[in-house]
Amino acid sequence: MLLTGVTGFVGAHLLNELLHRTGSRVHCVVRARDDGSAQARVDAAMAEYGLAPVDTGRVRAYAGDLAQDRFSLPEELYTRLASSVDVVVNNAASVSAAQSYGTIRGANVTGTHHVLRFAARTRLKRVHHISTLAVLLADDPVARQGLEARISGRPEARLRSSGYWLSKWVAEQLVNTAAERGLPVTIHRLARVSGHSSTGAWARGDFWNRILGGGLRIGALPDTRWADRFTPVDHVAAAVVELMLQPRSTGKVFHIADTPVVDIADIARWLSETGHPVGILPWEQWVKEVASDPDNPMALLIPHLRQGVSGRASDVLPSEEQNVDCRRFREALDSTGITFPAPGPALFGRYADALGLPSDHPETTAGSAL
Ligand SMILES: NC(=O)c1ccc[n+]([C@@H]2O[C@H](COP(=O)([O-])OP(=O)(O)OC[C@H]3O[C@@H](n4cnc5c(N)ncnc54)[C@H](OP(=O)(O)O)[C@@H]3O)[C@@H](O)[C@H]2O)c1
Repeated sequence: MLLTGVTGFVGAHLLNELLHRTGSRVHCVVRARDDGSAQARVDAAMAEYGLAPVDTGRVRAYAGDLAQDRFSLPEELYTRLASSVDVVVNNAASVSAAQSYGTIRGANVTGTHHVLRFAARTRLKRVHHISTLAVLLADDPVARQGLEARISGRPEARLRSSGYWLSKWVAEQLVNTAAERGLPVTIHRLARVSGHSSTGAWARGDFWNRILGGGLRIGALPDTRWADRFTPVDHVAAAVVELMLQPRSTGKVFHIADTPVVDIADIARWLSETGHPVGILPWEQWVKEVASDPDNPMALLIPHLRQGVSGRASDVLPSEEQNVDCRRFREALDSTGITFPAPGPALFGRYADALGLPSDHPETTAGSAL
């Protein structure tokens, strides 16, 4: 199979899960100088998230760029892969909320177009497209009801306010067209992918990881209505790979999001219960405190947040008030034992511990005394 975005947070965990659950060889296109550096980047990603090193007999990394024609691979290699691969996981994307549509279109839209073209070349390949619940912000009855189905309609203003969300919506439209033309595709719409449920390892640049890290540094979270669905990355990878292994998932859309919405007040309470005391500060005061702490992980985002943000969740996060139907996902995973852990003190205490910040939690205090 071909897996894209393997040097990223979700991709590294998908690779780990695929290697455990299948006997497949996995080919990876990685932005790098040469194939050796591409392989080194895969190894570094696995190490960064505390995952087992990959067996190079099963995982091959090639230097390439999805935004370029033929992934910028040599013609002979591209043709060989196109005739030997039978499944493609289109996971790569530029996920920066701060970048414009024009900046990330190459990776997210052109990249998807190239992946679909690859999937149709020589032999039809099954495609698993990794998307986001944010596409439900479209002006479309299916989207408004939050259904696990293809979305047409038009992107509404809020969706268009983010280049990233818009690019993921456009990418889904390309996938829909490919499906209508006979390509066997499955769409997996992810919620917030949070840290690993055991180790707490989480993408450093993630918005919520920055909020937790930044909030713990100053002992306060902002008084906002920010809320989200938190799905630990190891459970997301297990769910997506399980769905990939089910032949009946072809042609379907799944919401990998079967967990309740939690808000910032819940999180503050859970952190405090596990010995990471945080209060709640009024928005303006919180922003001021963060801005005066240059090493704060949120400091970088302050200019972005100040632009018209009044602390309303809808300004920066898509999913807190949306209808999100997960019935198909739940049915498909019924009896597999794969579920999401209930969000609560255990999970968020682990995230705080993984951030390695000051705590009066007995275990952490003992550990840091060594
Ligand atoms: N994390 C979440 O909470 C979340 C939520 C909903 C949906 N998703 C979806 O999940 C997928 C993975 O996200 P993530 O959080 O794992 O992001 P990430 O950590 O930033 O990883 C993105 C990956 O895509 C690769 N990539 C980007 N542009 C590329 C290009 N032109 N050619 C080749 N590779 C390219 C990156 O390579 P480099 O290392 O070279 O940059 C990296 O490996 C995305 O499709 C995203 O939309 C994520």
